[in-house]
Parts: sequence; structure tokens; C-alpha cells
Amino acid sequence: MRKRMKIIWYHPSMDAQCWLTGVARRLPDAEIRLWQPGDDACADYAIVRSPPVEMLAGRSLKGLFAMGAGVDELLQQQRQHPDRLSDQVPLYRLEDTGMAQQMQEYANWCVLGWYRRFADYQRQQQARCWQPLPLPARDTFTIGVLGAGVLGRSVLESLQQWGFPLRCWSRTPKTLPGVHAFHGDAALHDFLAGCQVVIDLLPATPETTDLINADFLRALPHGAHFLNLARGAHVVEADLLAALNSGQLAAAALDVFQQEPLPADDALWQHPHVTITPHSAAITLPEQAMDAIASAIQQLEKGQQPPGRVDRQRGY
Ligand code: NAP
Ligand code: GLV
Repeated sequence: MRKRMKIIWYHPSMDAQCWLTGVARRLPDAEIRLWQPGDDACADYAIVRSPPVEMLAGRSLKGLFAMGAGVDELLQQQRQHPDRLSDQVPLYRLEDTGMAQQMQEYANWCVLGWYRRFADYQRQQQARCWQPLPLPARDTFTIGVLGAGVLGRSVLESLQQWGFPLRCWSRTPKTLPGVHAFHGDAALHDFLAGCQVVIDLLPATPETTDLINADFLRALPHGAHFLNLARGAHVVEADLLAALNSGQLAAAALDVFQQEPLPADDALWQHPHVTITPHSAAITLPEQAMDAIASAIQQLEKGQQPPGRVDRQRGY
């Protein structure tokens, strides 16, 4: 009899039943189980988010699937426990699976809100003030996206319709229609120099940690705007606050933070020019994510290479 493939699943908060039945429906040849402490029975694949180290210790899986786009937490765990977590197991992440549209929505909401000065009108409304405000010239309202990967490119595409000048910054060179592309550390300041809005869609790696610091913020034009849709580890929050307080930054919208949940006494909560969301810019949509993971497992079983393989050396 053919051996059934075995899948273990773990997520600290998602509905396990939805995933167990959803994956089983898509992969009738598989046995999928919720991993629980003490379970060291064999498994071919693991589907995880924030797994305890014991779940993956010593396992030689055919594939490890992250239930998200970013794999910084998993890679960090691996760096901390190299003796327990094998770096030989192929690691896959979610590419888009409905997250790109969510990022487009968030980015367009912020960009248009800042361009059309809706926060200023809200303040005027509170003061019962009837005063039309001038708009910046459209062709000077440059928007720069840090990262030109799956999500960065998709956000840039969605911004094309408004006619703002667009820029991106990535590690390797890119050619994107209608986008002025910069790459590499040496080009960062040139990229920043013209940006009225900077949107962060970089992965968290040792190279991008603390990237958004006083030096970075000084390189922007006075009164620029910052949107972080990526990871809090990119930002030196004290430098961000100082830039907001001095007016160097006119406003920031932040979905991610150094510490999550953001502590109740953090100054960012009360800042008049800061918008906060609780790491919900683009959530994992179970149906799309299960489709992608099940299809990837089927491809691996056939000896094919599915998309989304993480390059551990690069860190994303
Ligand atoms: P991706 O496809 O891997 O794209 C990453 C981009 O960043 C690539 O263009 C890459 O350059 C660039 N990059 C990486 N390191 C760089 C460096 N040192 N300097 C310059 N550019 C660098 O990732 P994605 O799917 O677009 O996702 C991006 C991130 O969004 C994820 O890693 C995750 O942290 C975050 N995210 C957040 C949420 C949320 O709800 N807040 C949801 C989903 C994802 P190359 O193209 O040259 O390699
Ligand atoms: C969420 O932050 C993700 O990386 O999917």
C-alpha cells in the first residue's frame, strides 16, 4: 500500500480546524494533524507560524511552509538554534495569496490621504474652519517604494493610475515601466532625496535592520511622509519620533513596530501625525494560502520546484 504523506500544522492563534479540513480536502492523499507538544512522530511537511522550536527540532522535512510572506522570525529561530533546526529543509513563504491587494488598498489610502490633505481637513472640521487648502503639484509628489518584490511591485502598479512620479529601491537592478528604479546601498540617498512619500516593503534581514534611522530620515525632503507596511525592525523608533516632532516628517502610518503589540505607554499612540494599525496591513487569507501551499506540496511530490522558495543566505 502507498504510504500517505504526513503534514504537521501549527499556528498560535489561527483556527486549526479550518486549516486541517481545508488542507485535507485539497490533498486527499495526506494525513494532516495539529502539532502538539511532545509530538515527535514522523512528518513529511510542516505548515507553521511562530512554531515552538521543539516542533521542528531534528526533523528532515521535504518542505517547511511559512503561513506568511515574511520569514524573518523563522530564520531568526534557526540562527538561535542551529543545532536543533536543520537549515537543509527547503523553506517556502507565501507569495501574494491575496496580500498584494490588501497592500495596494492600504498604500493608496495613505498616499491619497496625504496628497489631498485629509488629516488637515479633519483638524479644520474640529475647529469649524472653512478653508480650502492648496495641493502640492502632482508631478513633484514623488512616491518611493523600498523593496520591489512581489508586494512592492504590486503597490507600484496600483499607484500608476494617479500620475505621481514613482521610484523603487531594491538590492538588485530592476526595470519597471513608469518607475525610476534605484538599487544598492550607494543609491539609497539619491532615491530618498526626491521622495515625498516612502513606503517600506522590504523584508527584515540583518541588512535592513535599523535602516530607517536619523541619517535615512535626514535624506528625505523636509515634510515627507513614511508608511511602514513591512517590519518594525527596520525602524529606529526614537529617530522616527524626533523626525515627526521636528516636522522633517509630516506624517507616518505604521502597521508594524519594534515591539508588538505596541506598549500602551508608547509615545507613538498619541502622536497627532501618526496613524497606527495592529500589524494587519495584509493578513493571511486561509483559502488562498491553502491553495498555494497544497499546490506547492503537489509539485514537490512530483519532483517539481514550486514558487516561494526562501534563499536562507539572502534572508528572504
Ligand atoms: P519579496 O518579494 O521577497 O521582495 C523583497 C524586496 O526587497 C526585493 O525587491 C528585494 O530586492 C528587496 N530587498 C531585500 N533586501 C534588500 C536590501 N538590503 N536592500 C535593498 N532592497 C532589498 O517580499 P514581499 O513578498 O514583497 O514582502 C515584503 C515584506 O513585506 C515581507 O518580507 C514582510 O516582512 C512584509 N509583510 C508585511 C505584512 C503586514 O501585514 N504588515 C504582510 C505581508 C508581508 P531584490 O528584488 O533585488 O532581491
Ligand atoms: C505578515 O506580516 C507576513 O509576513 O505575512
